[in-house]
Amino acid sequence: MALVEEQSRSAAVRVENLTIGYGERVVLEAVDLTVWRGEIVTILGRSGCGKSTLLKVMIGLLPPLKGSIALGGRVITGSGNEDSLALARKKIGVLFQSGALMGSLTLAENVALPIQELTTLSAELVDDIVRLKLEMVGLAGFDGLLPAELSGGMRKRAALARAIALDPEILFCDEPSAGLDPVTSAELDHLLLELKRALGITMVLVTHELPSIEAISDRCVMLDGKARGIIAMGAPAELRESSTDPRVQAFFHRRARPRT
Ligand SMILES: Nc1ncnc2c1ncn2[C@@H]1O[C@H](COP(=O)(O)OP(=O)(O)O)[C@@H](O)[C@H]1O
Ligand SMILES: [Mg+2]
Repeated sequence: MALVEEQSRSAAVRVENLTIGYGERVVLEAVDLTVWRGEIVTILGRSGCGKSTLLKVMIGLLPPLKGSIALGGRVITGSGNEDSLALARKKIGVLFQSGALMGSLTLAENVALPIQELTTLSAELVDDIVRLKLEMVGLAGFDGLLPAELSGGMRKRAALARAIALDPEILFCDEPSAGLDPVTSAELDHLLLELKRALGITMVLVTHELPSIEAISDRCVMLDGKARGIIAMGAPAELRESSTDPRVQAFFHRRARPRT
């Protein structure tokens, strides 16, 4: 029983005593955080508090100033762990704010890119996977279109298809609904939830959108720039209803922050 429990709560991401920043500029200090397998964790906080920086460090794009990150039980930070980082890269999907599809490539070619880069699968298999992924995000039949021929919501879904091309264990998204209208944004939330339910993907999402946060997070982690760390952690309803921290209350009730 204990073993089952341990397995069902194994860590997808483990952040330990992490200090991050740029050169002299420390953004977050001594942060500890565990994301359990199958969880959707959202990272919240005001602009400039370090959400994107934390995400960049978690996916191994930016080395930490101190501390460590483990993905799927393997430490990816520090010298000597380059192999683990390379391996982890194959097991994670990333959806950046901009979506960043290649404008000169069709949707199918965009989704095929990571598969061609990271595997040695035959062209036919790649085609099959691409078709499946586009279908999963509701873009079946749009294979031959260029990004510019799509709406913003469709571009996001195409970028999501590319992010899940290699069946990632963990999906990292930085403000996935930025620039989308509320309905399209809700549709994207629904799609993320569906992917979590169908595939059990663990997700770490940076978002500002209260409706998204409430709709999809199992847990939220709130960062604060001044405190240089995590100031609250918990289920969204719990933070909204029970937190006595004025910064958390201000965020969840959309109030201007009290002067300190
Ligand atoms: N490449 C960089 N070099 C130096 N400072 C940076 C860089 N990127 C971000 N910063 C600074 O780090 C802080 C956190 O930024 P960021 O993680 O982008 O915040 P958020 O995503 O929460 O809005 C900000 O003060 C920002 O100005
Ligand atoms: Mg950001």
